[in-house]
Amino acid sequence: MSKQVSVEALSEAEARRELARLATEIRLADNAYYKDDDPHLSDAEYDAMRARNEQIEAQFPHLKRSDSPSERVGAQVSEAFSKVTHGVPMLSLDNAFSDEDVAEFAARIRRYLGLGEDEPLVLTAEPKIDGLSLSLTYESGRLVRAATRGDGSVGEDVTVNARTVEDIPDTLKGEGWPDKIEIRGEVYMTGEAFKVLNANQEVAGKKVFANPRNAAAGSLRQLDVSITRARPLRFFAYAWGETSERFAATQAEAIEKFRDWGFVTNELFHPHETVDGLLDAYRDMTERRTLLGYDIDGVVYKVNRLDWQERLGFVSRFPRWAIAHKFPAERAVTKLEAIEIQVGRTGTLTPVARLKPVTVGGVVVSNATLHNEDEIARLDVRPGDMVEIQRAGDVIPQVLGVVDPDENRSPAFKMPEECPQCGAAAVRETDEKGEEDVRRRCTGGLTCPAQAVERLKHFVSRKALDIDGLGAKQVELFHALGILEGPQDIYRLTARIEEAGEPPLTEWDGFGETSAKNLFASIDARRNPPFQRFLNGLGIRHVGETTSGLFARHFLSWAAFWSTVEKASRGEEAAEGELLSIDGVGQTAVKSLKGFAAEPHNRDMLQSLLEEVGVADAEAAATDSPVAGKTIVFTGTLERMTRDEAKSRATALGAKVSGSVSAKTDIVVAGPGAGSKLKKAEELGLQVMSEDDWLELAGL
Ligand code: IVH
Repeated sequence: MSKQVSVEALSEAEARRELARLATEIRLADNAYYKDDDPHLSDAEYDAMRARNEQIEAQFPHLKRSDSPSERVGAQVSEAFSKVTHGVPMLSLDNAFSDEDVAEFAARIRRYLGLGEDEPLVLTAEPKIDGLSLSLTYESGRLVRAATRGDGSVGEDVTVNARTVEDIPDTLKGEGWPDKIEIRGEVYMTGEAFKVLNANQEVAGKKVFANPRNAAAGSLRQLDVSITRARPLRFFAYAWGETSERFAATQAEAIEKFRDWGFVTNELFHPHETVDGLLDAYRDMTERRTLLGYDIDGVVYKVNRLDWQERLGFVSRFPRWAIAHKFPAERAVTKLEAIEIQVGRTGTLTPVARLKPVTVGGVVVSNATLHNEDEIARLDVRPGDMVEIQRAGDVIPQVLGVVDPDENRSPAFKMPEECPQCGAAAVRETDEKGEEDVRRRCTGGLTCPAQAVERLKHFVSRKALDIDGLGAKQVELFHALGILEGPQDIYRLTARIEEAGEPPLTEWDGFGETSAKNLFASIDARRNPPFQRFLNGLGIRHVGETTSGLFARHFLSWAAFWSTVEKASRGEEAAEGELLSIDGVGQTAVKSLKGFAAEPHNRDMLQSLLEEVGVADAEAAATDSPVAGKTIVFTGTLERMTRDEAKSRATALGAKVSGSVSAKTDIVVAGPGAGSKLKKAEELGLQVMSEDDWLELAGL
């Protein structure tokens, strides 16, 4: 922030650039201060950055970014709350956007549970409240903790704040509550209260909130509880997490109990016996939406029977037994100022629309994705056009099309055939079937600085190595100075800095003794990364977090896994077969792994990385089930549950489910009609059992 131009003298382009820079710097400063408890700026420097950001926004209101620091007062304080681990993770809901999606949801449940056509399947419908979710722990009927959702596993302790909310009982009424229960629901603010709050804020010269949801979030996450108390927050109870006992047999019964215990539940909650019933409820709520007095953004459907909810379980972040039917996305028209190209970690060139900022559904939008060049051609969007955009929920805004194209538009957009970052050819690959990929990719590989930087950022990111204090900005800086070229350099940072002819980190601007020490400490703390994080961190195409987890649980040790990958990449069929036998691992991931392992650059990188780190073995599934760690093959017809359910329940108990029989198979569960797999199992002398024996062994 040395040579600073006065705000009045800034050109529009300069202002835009500076707002972008300030947004990043303030975010990093916030993280350093609130998350790492290790500020790298003085209070005065920090305040000056915020003040400048606000001055520029006042001068150029249309340039205000959707991630503007001036919008982030609430989130900022949040980092100062202590962390709470939820007893049961707080999950998200999968989305349905059409009637067909809803019908498919119900059909999927029927298939999974193996329900006959005329067996009743009762689903409940209720509004999806647009607020923030909260988990309230009650012990012996008393509120002992309130936690925000956070990342789903760990949230923030907002107990004192939650106690000021009238709808949240301090002690439960009535009877029959479990000794310990996490009650979950949504904190929200009514439209009326939101208006009054904003009017007061304006009079007091304080920040106004963009929408009731932000106002509710900002009000709950206040370090000064008197501020929360003065804000009229409300709460609907609609779900639960950990409980010490079962307290209901159905969702409807649970909601009724919540009401008896003193919670407010939504009056539009109803069970329905048919999909048509659900769709009627959806239309009814669409009509009433504006009259409710609070914001809702869809309708949530849930399986009513709780024993079925349990059987259905979860797929990654979503329960199989619930879905959110979203209201149509909100739209707006604005000017497309430019099309810029971003280069991702795997070299994909993504065109991004830079837009004149516009408010869509209460949020300022200034960027939207254009996906790829075919999409741009289909829409025929060109810089300077007025475009219609849409924003639905948390998804990235999209460009829908051009509105009233002008006669003298700029020429049609042409995707660069060279990578804008490294100049290497950018090509569209053709697959085995002769189909051209819609994406254009930079062929620069490791020599492309954009790819290298994105890969490094991925390696240190939260879901990979999770190295605190080494964020996007630091990675960019170290990479620009030639200090970090590949992930292995992170672990030799001191030497790399010296080799680059730079002074020790403690002498750098913005580092200092403590942050340098902390950075080295957090790097050292990651010298034994868990298998799944390590593999995910390598950033191999099609081998992300989930697939990495599948490999980790199957192989447990990195050495066992990697030697199999190497064998497969040398063409050994048995090794490839083992990789492919893992439930959930497909051809694409295996092909990509083989490709990665065959590339000398990658092998060198991996070798030097493994000189620095020791990958920790994955744990055999944490269950004491006798089937944990066993490899199971299901064959023939199952009569007591569907194949999908059998697979996911076996996996939940820590077993590995494979599609093919080999010497490594432990158990073959054979139903009527079993053929070649059963024969092979017998030849190999494997343990073969009936479905009933299996259910008994697995304790199901
Ligand atoms: S049920 C396991 N019911 O939507 C699923 N969620 O996209 C538990 N939400 O994080 C959630 N209204 O914050 C449920 N009536 C409702 C809801 C609701 C709003 C929120 C909740 C959740 C998000 C998922």
